[in-house]
Amino acid sequence: MSRRKLVAGNWKMHGTSADLGEVRGIAEAARRLDGQVDVALCVPATLIHRAAEGVPGFAIGAQDIHMADKGAHTGDICAAMLHDAGARLTIVGHSERRDAHREDDTTVRAKAEAALRSGLKVILCVGESDAERDAGRALEVVTAQLRASLPSEGATAVNFAVAYEPIWAIGTGKVPVTHDIAEMHAALRATLVEALGEEGAGVRLLYGGSVKASNAAEIFAVEDVDGALVGGASLTAADFVPIVEAAAA
Ligand code: PGA
Repeated sequence: MSRRKLVAGNWKMHGTSADLGEVRGIAEAARRLDGQVDVALCVPATLIHRAAEGVPGFAIGAQDIHMADKGAHTGDICAAMLHDAGARLTIVGHSERRDAHREDDTTVRAKAEAALRSGLKVILCVGESDAERDAGRALEVVTAQLRASLPSEGATAVNFAVAYEPIWAIGTGKVPVTHDIAEMHAALRATLVEALGEEGAGVRLLYGGSVKASNAAEIFAVEDVDGALVGGASLTAADFVPIVEAAAA
């Protein structure tokens, strides 16, 4: 099945209004390559409204949501609020949230379900630690994570994507060998088809972890890699646009 690639940036806790020019630069490239590649940018919550207003039609996303639709949750933001601010998608289950905020698969699943209920598309992250890979358990751990954090209903090829992000590759400059990426993506594809049937064959599987312009083409050429989730190299148009262009090529 042919799936159009999706390249999503994750700004993490970077960016203020001074950086909105970068959002415009990235959206401009996405417009130029419209129809060849899908592009999204997950900015800090504080920038979503201004970013979305500045680039109509371009997919601005959030990096996390609360699992409840509303309520007494000081400091948290629900899916409907993010949608109202202009977000069209959200990341859930990023390893930095799983680790620093102790989010387990059940929480991540509830967040994915809350996002879909509010009309936000979802990028669900999974990935193994270096200890798990060294122990030969990467495939087992990551497929189990995917099974346990998949929304129980509502996920389709249009509104749902999965990002495989080995934790040891995030922000480290280390990238798995292409054989290991291919092996993991094949296992995740099989898991998606098993869980979602036909739709699972169309869900995009992104790779994330130290993707940059210099390695993007090689990663995008790997079987079953349908795009990338990019952290550090998404912060400027100069770094990010060449990655988007590699996905469009
Ligand atoms: P990185 O981050 O591209 O800076 O390694 C990827 C991510 O955490 O999504």
